[in-house]
Amino acid sequence: MGGRWETDTSQDDKEIRAIRYALENGITHLDTAESYGDGHAEELIATATQGIDRSRLFIVSKVSGNHQKYDDLLRSCEASLKRLKTDYLDLYLLHRFPDTGTNIHDTMRAMDRLVEEGMVRHIGVCNMTVNRYTEAQKHTANTLVCNQLHFSLDCREITDKGILQYCQENDIFVTAWGPLSKGVLKKAKILHDMAQKYGKTAYQVALNWLIMQPYVITIPKTSTPEHLDENLGALGWELSQDDWQKLAEEFPNQRLISDRVSLDYEADIKP
Ligand SMILES: NC(=O)c1ccc[n+]([C@@H]2O[C@H](COP(=O)([O-])OP(=O)(O)OC[C@H]3O[C@@H](n4cnc5c(N)ncnc54)[C@H](OP(=O)(O)O)[C@@H]3O)[C@@H](O)[C@H]2O)c1
Repeated sequence: MGGRWETDTSQDDKEIRAIRYALENGITHLDTAESYGDGHAEELIATATQGIDRSRLFIVSKVSGNHQKYDDLLRSCEASLKRLKTDYLDLYLLHRFPDTGTNIHDTMRAMDRLVEEGMVRHIGVCNMTVNRYTEAQKHTANTLVCNQLHFSLDCREITDKGILQYCQENDIFVTAWGPLSKGVLKKAKILHDMAQKYGKTAYQVALNWLIMQPYVITIPKTSTPEHLDENLGALGWELSQDDWQKLAEEFPNQRLISDRVSLDYEADIKP
């Protein structure tokens, strides 16, 4: 929403309506980043949430990898708060591991300062391998509560590389991004068969498969009210364990490396 990396205001009315519709229908978790639409996604959230009791919302934003030097990170957070017209974030995430040349210790010191000053309630990361996650955790006095990662029926990197298991064993939430593979998952016959069996839609099954797993939550993006209604239908029921397993094993064309964000295992193992 609000453009990809550059601001696009052409869909503002539709996108503000979509966020309001989501809020009216019980959504409370709003995921954004300073980079989305070059900050415009945050402005859309500010407009859409005007007049809503702030304590009912869970607002998440992210600092880009090239803004993670100590002072830059503090400035980024202040700018996000200003665009969001709020005085705190519920969760602030490193969008990437800091760019080369930025010391993770300084990055985490800045994150700690934001928590101390009440600008951020919780901190976490995105797209981090277990090694990078534990490295980031070493440098903060706070607990990293979340790792936001590419995870869907067709993208299994985090199970293949042990990241999900590590999070589940260490009380860390995984927020699955890209859960619908941008709306293309339903080409798979197995998903249609399963949907028919449960009287659900393919996407409802795909989302249910994700959130049945301990510690997994998900953030499907939609600007279309009908899609929101459909996605909400992923809640309130469960696949059987056997069907969950069948989908886990038999979903076709599974990728073990994200085609969208590299987790950079090469950098990971350097001392
Ligand atoms: N941390 C990171 O590095 C990272 C990276 C990527 C994304 N994210 C976050 O994760 C969110 C979701 O990821 P994503 O947008 O890449 O993928 P996604 O949620 O899997 O897919 C979104 C796309 O699917 C469509 N869609 C949604 N519900 C649908 C439905 N029921 N039927 C048909 N199409 C449907 C949407 O179109 P409509 O709008 O028309 O419904 C949109 O084009 C992002 O918005 C972002 O907040 C984080």
